[in-house]
Amino acid sequence: MSCQPGKLCWEGFKRTRALALLGLLAIIFILLSFWSFTSSRKQAIPRNVYYADYSAVEGKRVFQSFNCMGCHTIVGNGAYFGPDLTKLYGKVGPAWLEAFLPSAGAWPTEIAVQIKLNDAIIAEDAGVASIDAYKKKYPDAAERIARRGGHPTMMPNLPITAENVRKLVAFLKYTSEMNTEGWPPEPKIDGLATPYATPMPGAAQVAPASVAPAAAATPAASAGATESAAAPAAADDSELIAQGSQLAQTYGCLACHALDSKRTVGPGWGGLYGTDVKLTDGTTVTVDDAYIKQSILDPNSQIVDSYPPGTMPPMQGILNDDQVSAIVAYIRSLKGA
Ligand code: HEC
Ligand code: HEC
Repeated sequence: MSCQPGKLCWEGFKRTRALALLGLLAIIFILLSFWSFTSSRKQAIPRNVYYADYSAVEGKRVFQSFNCMGCHTIVGNGAYFGPDLTKLYGKVGPAWLEAFLPSAGAWPTEIAVQIKLNDAIIAEDAGVASIDAYKKKYPDAAERIARRGGHPTMMPNLPITAENVRKLVAFLKYTSEMNTEGWPPEPKIDGLATPYATPMPGAAQVAPASVAPAAAATPAASAGATESAAAPAAADDSELIAQGSQLAQTYGCLACHALDSKRTVGPGWGGLYGTDVKLTDGTTVTVDDAYIKQSILDPNSQIVDSYPPGTMPPMQGILNDDQVSAIVAYIRSLKGA
């Protein structure tokens, strides 16, 4: 290896060449390192992804503070109790997420999603304003509404304020825009006879049915004779009550309100009528028809003590007078548990 006197020696040349090559590779390495941080790779950048004035960075903080990763995965990180959320925003869209997140204990109904689309910010982000166009653009939302709308979910209700819902959507918008090179893969279900999970036992009956039949079934079961004695006025009312029960289900009220006195996302309706309710402004009101009506049409005008404002969607312009009266009659008919 070493150079001998009188012979041609390549040693110095080889060493220089090796060092030059090493230097070149080092420069390429450093340049590539810089390049991997530039936007040239078309990766979404959290601080540039916005939803309704909130950036994905803010959303990530909310996502962490609720420990969503304790049950969900994002690009494979997290826990496997709930489904992966990485690409969800792109599949179900902002209106479905806005309807789902504040009352995660129940799947949103079609009208609950439609109500969200009335919000110009949400409609603009979705790129469509009507529910039919929305369902076409986001078939996964349509599928969720059709198959599960109104039924209970296995995700708990979390106290997510209206503002934090928007931040979370911003974060999920970002994860959906991330280039994950095809991850997570679509599960293969070839040849499986039941591609969809069967509902939890009893799930279908939980929401409105548990009361609607109870109201209807008791008189039917106990006596046909007492029915005629029960006065025509009551019969009239029961029709209105049944209509109110149906509306409460369709309009997604039952995703947030229990039919007994239990607190869920909002106050339970059972036994509410006639009680005194303390509001956040310190005043106390007695629950009567007028109070319920106003709570439905303009909930933020009187917030019940210990509840956050902005969670309940105002029903002004969505429900007409007759529909509100039916719901009021229904709430009036619910006795405390
Ligand atoms: C205690 C566990 C738990 C926590 C905490 C939790 N989730 Fe869930 N989540 C679930 C489960 C379970 C489901 C599936 C529900 C079902 O299929 O019935 C779900 C479903 C969802 C869905 C609907 C998914 C789909 O494909 O339709 C979204 C969106 C979601 N969760 C978002 C969140 C966010 C955001 C957070 C944090 C703020 C969060 N979750 C916290 C358990 C949880
Ligand atoms: C996303 C959750 C959500 C949905 C959906 C929702 N509410 Fe509410 N509701 C709340 C919350 C939270 C409160 C308590 C804060 C307040 O007063 O606005 C409330 C309060 C109320 C009250 C006053 C209750 C009291 O104890 O004084 C009534 C009545 C009511 N809602 C009726 C309805 C009806 C009817 C619908 C459907 C058309 C509905 N809500 C849909 C969350 C919801």
